[in-house]
Amino acid sequence: MAKEIWKPGNMLYPLPVVMVSVADRDGKKNIITIAWAGTVCTDPPMVSISVRPERYSYKILRETGEFVVNLTTKELAFAADYCGVKSGREVDKFAELKLTALPADNVCAPLIGESPVNLECRVVQVLPLGSHDMFLAEVTAVHADEQYMDERHKFHLEQAEPIVYSHGAYLLCGQQIGTFGYSVRKDLHERGRAKSHKSEKRHIHKDSKKRNGH
Ligand SMILES: Cc1cc2nc3c(=O)[nH]c(=O)nc-3n(C[C@H](O)[C@H](O)[C@H](O)COP(=O)(O)O)c2cc1C
Repeated sequence: MAKEIWKPGNMLYPLPVVMVSVADRDGKKNIITIAWAGTVCTDPPMVSISVRPERYSYKILRETGEFVVNLTTKELAFAADYCGVKSGREVDKFAELKLTALPADNVCAPLIGESPVNLECRVVQVLPLGSHDMFLAEVTAVHADEQYMDERHKFHLEQAEPIVYSHGAYLLCGQQIGTFGYSVRKDLHERGRAKSHKSEKRHIHKDSKKRNGH
């Protein structure tokens, strides 16, 4: 297993690539594409986004402390890239891309209607880290598109064809190869796969049996 040693850098991939929508005090809307985003706490539900101070959206985030994280899909890939290379200083990205701005419940930033999931966020802390400032925010509401819900009200995000960002490329999420906790489940058809990992099983913390017990 020969490996090259690279200088320190960002190689934590794949990552979600999200379209973050904001609105300034005059109601002017903008969208910035963010890959340095993450889930950081379950309760209270919190996310982080890291933004360079030179971005047009940065000042709006600082002033309002509010934003919406809009998940991206195959259909939104072009728009996500565009919002990541064009600045709101020069272009109205909502108008240019013919995206629908919907009012949010708790924040001044709009939702992107075409996105299957929108997370309304309120900033609780800003951490200057170097090139980027990290905005830690509490999720105050989640909007999920009803078209991806089945008759039992189960939400199928995979049907929206979500995308990820990996080392410079946008990729479609692939095939499902398991579900949370399948490695320790006894009764499912996935058991065959779990068996092959039997030796590892001993080391798995019992908490992993709990669904969504992150
Ligand atoms: C895939 C992708 C991911 C990006 N991720 C980030 C990021 O995490 N943080 C950031 O500050 N800029 C990021 N950018 C760059 C901004 O989206 C870009 O500079 C954008 O034009 C800023 O828009 P604004 O000036 O309207 O705010 C990313 C761009 C792309 C294409």
